[in-house]
Amino acid sequence: MSARDRDRDAVRLHVVTGKGGTGKTTVAASLALALASGGRTVLLVEVEGRQGVARLFGTGPLPYEEREIAAPFEGGRVRALAADAESALLEYLEMFYGMRRAGQVLTRFGAVDFATTIAPGMRDVLLTGKATEAVRRRTGERRRSRDSDTGRHVYDAVVMDAPPTGRIAQFLNVNAEVAGLARVGPIRHHADKVMATIRSAQTAVHFVTVLEEMPAQETLDGIGEIRAAGLNVGSIVVNMVRPPFFPDPVLGSVAEGRFDTDALVRGLKAAGFEDAEETARGLAREVGEHALRVAGESAIRARLDVLDLPRLQLPLLSGGVGPDALHVLAGRLREQGV
Ligand SMILES: Nc1ncnc2c1ncn2[C@@H]1O[C@H](COP(=O)(O)OP(=O)(O)OP(=O)(O)O)[C@@H](O)[C@H]1O
Ligand SMILES: [Mg+2]
Repeated sequence: MSARDRDRDAVRLHVVTGKGGTGKTTVAASLALALASGGRTVLLVEVEGRQGVARLFGTGPLPYEEREIAAPFEGGRVRALAADAESALLEYLEMFYGMRRAGQVLTRFGAVDFATTIAPGMRDVLLTGKATEAVRRRTGERRRSRDSDTGRHVYDAVVMDAPPTGRIAQFLNVNAEVAGLARVGPIRHHADKVMATIRSAQTAVHFVTVLEEMPAQETLDGIGEIRAAGLNVGSIVVNMVRPPFFPDPVLGSVAEGRFDTDALVRGLKAAGFEDAEETARGLAREVGEHALRVAGESAIRARLDVLDLPRLQLPLLSGGVGPDALHVLAGRLREQGV
C-alpha cells in the first residue's frame, strides 16, 4: 500500500466541492453510498440549505436530524442531515451549556441572524462544526464527554456536500475568520477544535469538474486556494464523461481535415439514402464538431494531469440521476478504488 493509499484510507471527512452545477450533490451522494458498502456507516451532510440531497433521493425535505436515507447498500448504511446554522447554534448551546430554551429565545429575537450577519464566519464555523463533531463522535458519548477517546467512531466516514469552489477555502478556513472575532473563550475553543479536524489527515477536499474550460479553471484555482490554506486535497472527480463516438484515427483525420466525405457519400448511396450528398455533409459537420470537442476535452485533461492528483471518473448518464442511478455511480466509484 502506498503512502497515498494509506492517507486515503485515513480520510474520514470527505468535503465535495466544484463549480456550480457540475454535480457536487450527485457525487457527494454517490461517494457516501460507495463508502458505505461492506457494512460501513456514513453520514451525508448538506450545508447549503438547498435540500438537493432530498431531491436526489426522492424524499421529503431533510430535517436537522441524522436520518437513514438510502436503502442498505451491501450491508452499509447512509444517513443524511441538512445542517443549518441556526439549528447548529441551538444544539451547540444546549450541548455545552444546557441552554436550549435560552437559544430559542435568542432565535425569536433574531439574535442568531444578528450574530451571523455581523460575523459571517460564525455561520461557517457552526456548519463545519456540525460535520466535524460527527467525524469525532464515538459510541456511548453522544451528549457530554465528547472529548474522550473511548468507544468506536459512530461514523466510518462523513461526506459533505459543500459550497462551490469560489467559496470553499473561506468556508473551511473558519479559524482565520473567527480569529478576529474571538481570541479566547468558548467560541475560540470551538473554532480551534473544528479547525484541528479540518486540517488533519482525516479531512480531504475533493473537486468535481466536467471537461469544460470554466469548471476546470475553477478547479485549478480552488485547489491552489485549499493548498495555500494548508488543507488536504483529495481527488479530482471528472463528472459527466461522454465516451468518444469514433476511434482515435478517425478523430485524428477529421482534426487534420482529412475526413473523406466522398467515401461517406458513396457509402450512403450504396445504403440507398436519397439525399446522400446533403446527409453526408451534415454528418461530416457533426463529426467535425465532435472531434473538436474531444480534442478540447483532451487538452483539459492534460491541464488537470499537471496537478498529479488521484482522478476519478463518472459517466454522463443519459436518463439523468435518481436514486437508482446513484447506485450505478457509486458502483463506478468502487471500481476505481473508493
Ligand atoms: N453523471 C451524471 N450524469 C447525468 N446527469 C448528471 C450527472 N451528474 C449530475 N447530473 C445532473 O446534473 C445536474 C446538476 O447536478 P448536481 O445537482 O449534483 O450539481 P451541483 O454541483 O450540486 O449543483 P448546485 O451547484 O446547483 O448545487 C442535475 O440535474 C443532475 O441530475
Ligand atoms: Mg448541489
